Amino acid sequence: MSEASTGICLLGCGIVGGGVVKILTDQAELLRQRIGVRFDIRHVVVRDPKKHAATYPGLPLTTDAHAAIDDPKVQIVVELMGGTTAAGALVERALKLGKPVVTANKSLLASRGPELFALARKHNTAIAFEASCGGGIPIIDALSRGLVANRIDALVGIVNGTCNVILTRMTRNGWSYAQALQEAQKLGFAEADPTLDVSGRDAAQKLAILAGLAFNARVSEADIHVEGIDKLHPADIQFATDLGYVIKLLAIGERDAEGRLTLRVHPTLVHKTDVLAEVSGSFNAISIYGHALGHALFYGRGAGQMPTASAAVADLVGVATGTTQLAFKRLNIYPDSAAPAKVLPFEQLQSRYYLRLTARDVPGVLAQITHALGEHGISLSAVLQREADESQYVPVVITTHLARQGAMRAALQAIDALPTIQGPSVCLRVIDQPKEFANG
Ligand code: HSE
Repeated sequence: MSEASTGICLLGCGIVGGGVVKILTDQAELLRQRIGVRFDIRHVVVRDPKKHAATYPGLPLTTDAHAAIDDPKVQIVVELMGGTTAAGALVERALKLGKPVVTANKSLLASRGPELFALARKHNTAIAFEASCGGGIPIIDALSRGLVANRIDALVGIVNGTCNVILTRMTRNGWSYAQALQEAQKLGFAEADPTLDVSGRDAAQKLAILAGLAFNARVSEADIHVEGIDKLHPADIQFATDLGYVIKLLAIGERDAEGRLTLRVHPTLVHKTDVLAEVSGSFNAISIYGHALGHALFYGRGAGQMPTASAAVADLVGVATGTTQLAFKRLNIYPDSAAPAKVLPFEQLQSRYYLRLTARDVPGVLAQITHALGEHGISLSAVLQREADESQYVPVVITTHLARQGAMRAALQAIDALPTIQGPSVCLRVIDQPKEFANG
């Protein structure tokens, strides 16, 4: 690769693509000084060049992706178009030509990562994907290099900015989910169709990538238990607050002593003293627990034009200087070179729980509830009941000690079958810091 000039082809010029163009243009001198490389944007592949011509005068816009990728003057292909079908085919094309690919496409990597990394290896090239997780936070770099000396035991992250904006609004303003979503859409934080984000899938795709690197395992989206935030009731946010917790959508990966992984994304009660409880709005944060380092927190803007472009340009630099290719060749941490994850069935997950039951305000109800929990070996940690108003039903809120998910599911089935309970009851999980790190 020439030191003087490195030819780039950008696939897609939406929000993030525009940010990459801006950094490469505005910071050309800084980049040249730091790494001795001048990036040359040779082609920008878009669907409708007329739409972009006014915003980016002078940019080499084209609709011909194949010719752009194949151009011998293009040395790096940057895929920022999103989606999996067309993007996947173009990434393959670039890799087959031996051209390194920089991508922000977590859906593509979560669904076809092992295959694409193997293809890159076969053609003696590499894939760089810092922008796929955590926006501008250099978490991929940290997991691949900075933390490489650590056996990582847990990774707990807020990795979806949209959900965090919605949950922050619900918590601070006492809003419903629908109200908070509408506001997030109005402010441009949530998409018109927010399904991928609010269902938890976006976070699961990021967790698949991060957990793969953290635990040296091949993790697919299907390995992850996923629950979104779209069913969350403001009452649970209020009760959680009363109990000293904040509800966050967490992506959690943990390794047990036998090397089995639990992988999950769900709304979670986080104690207000946990650093993750303080992460609000569109910010992301990822807590990593390494055996040597202990707890480390990676915090920053998890989405948006310039933060994500910052990560993509960092990848461009890694590729242009050859460090990405070297790491790819030497480190056995990428999904094509890792063994499939040994995933603990979700029913065997050990967790603490938060329950909100709707119970008739009659004698003996609490005894029935605690009996059903006790029958399944579940021990109570706290109980909170408000006095009834005019309704004959009252909310009963319970937190538990550690119990298996399967036991909790069976206990809840028994509780919801009680004539004194109006089901379905709400069950959320409570997270504690890994024990070995909890006391400082
Ligand atoms: N939609 C994502 C989020 C950003 O809200 O965090 C892109 O990964």
